[in-house]
Amino acid sequence: MNNFKYESLIKTISEQINLPDNAVIADLGCKDASFLLAFQKAFPVKIKSAIGVDITDKWFKNVEYQKPVKLKVMNCSEKLKFKDNTFDFVFSKDMFECVPDKDLLISEIHRILKPDGVVICVNCDWESVAYNGENKELIAKAVHTYAVTKQPWMDDLDSWIGRRMYGFFNKSKLFESSVYVHNVVETEYEEGTFGYDLSMDVGWLYKENTGALCKEEYDEFIDNLKSAQENGSYIFSKPYYIYKGIKL
Ligand SMILES: C[S@@+](CC[C@H](N)C(=O)[O-])C[C@H]1O[C@@H](n2cnc3c(N)ncnc32)[C@H](O)[C@@H]1O
Repeated sequence: MNNFKYESLIKTISEQINLPDNAVIADLGCKDASFLLAFQKAFPVKIKSAIGVDITDKWFKNVEYQKPVKLKVMNCSEKLKFKDNTFDFVFSKDMFECVPDKDLLISEIHRILKPDGVVICVNCDWESVAYNGENKELIAKAVHTYAVTKQPWMDDLDSWIGRRMYGFFNKSKLFESSVYVHNVVETEYEEGTFGYDLSMDVGWLYKENTGALCKEEYDEFIDNLKSAQENGSYIFSKPYYIYKGIKL
């Protein structure tokens, strides 16, 4: 993962956390542990233990990590294999939408947090992603179909997950809740940007024959973005909802 791309998001999240000394932290659905390693960098002397879990270890292999970071395979759709009152801080980004029983996961996060522990869940609101380009209907279709088409590794999918997170947690009455939105805005369509990478991911829709978008539509979508870049009108915008809960 290109950490530079996430620098401003990591900074915004880090400003919401006030870790105690000897903090024990977890990242649920950590993938390649980029965020866990970024927190370790942001709070170099505070963290005693940082545990990343994911349903698969396929991204762990290329990660260079050492104590206090540990990575484990764990399915967050089930009861979490952690003791009560273990963590000062639980983090999860773009994983909640894959979990069918969100109430169970929320009560599990509450259980594993220490008293006054903090949870931060960051979720892109996929249906609010915006590109500028000539063909409005086609661009809207590409964004929408990608947002609502379930990929094989997902147990569940909700393209409105960003805007829904606050309600999921707040109605549980287990946390003192607040929410912020961090919006990524880009004006260059080039490799390594969020907008470019997402446009490549959208190609999955035709490559896997999902029926949601055909190759001709995908090619025209990409041409629209390239033309917008050439004529100086390219914009990409992606809102990350940052839910913060303090254990009650
Ligand atoms: C979109 S990726 C986000 C990864 C990382 N949090 C980030 O933002 O860079 C979703 C991650 O959640 C993991 N995941 C999906 N369902 C899961 C589950 N039930 N339990 C644990 N991890 C899960 C996937 O394997 C994947 O690594």
